[in-house]
Amino acid sequence: MAFFEWDDSLSVGVPLVDADHQVLISLINQLHDTLEDPEAAATVGSVLSALEDYTGYHFTREERAMEAVDYPTLPEHHERHEKLKQQVAEIRARYARDPAAVDGQEVLDFLKDWLKNHILQEDMAYRPYMEGRPEAISAAEEVAFVDLDDLDELEMDGLNEVNNAL
Ligand SMILES: [Fe+2]
Repeated sequence: MAFFEWDDSLSVGVPLVDADHQVLISLINQLHDTLEDPEAAATVGSVLSALEDYTGYHFTREERAMEAVDYPTLPEHHERHEKLKQQVAEIRARYARDPAAVDGQEVLDFLKDWLKNHILQEDMAYRPYMEGRPEAISAAEEVAFVDLDDLDELEMDGLNEVNNAL
């Protein structure tokens, strides 16, 4: 049994959002598996990066959908997203500096509880606003996974190297 199992009680009634949540759950499960397996230690950092990137992407998609339906508590919801993004970035940075400084089980429990509670309470609250509103989905679909503004310096260097080599 996976560390974090998806079930229908987590569905917010918007397939695109459910699919995003399933990706996040699977990244949390991957993080669990890599932390459990000493041979996979080298990949923990990249799983944390993927989790950070996909979290940012998903939150932007969700917020665009909320904007499209004039969701009244979007500012508060946005604040919750920003806080979690900062926490994930902080965990990733701390792990990069010193893997021993990160308590894997604590991080996993935190991420699982956060996502589960956030979906069941805050995300579920927008369900009636988005059901039967295709413009919400279209707005979310317009968000590209890689937003150049979101790339950090290291990623920019990598991209420049690729460009120079062409
Ligand atoms: Fe959310």
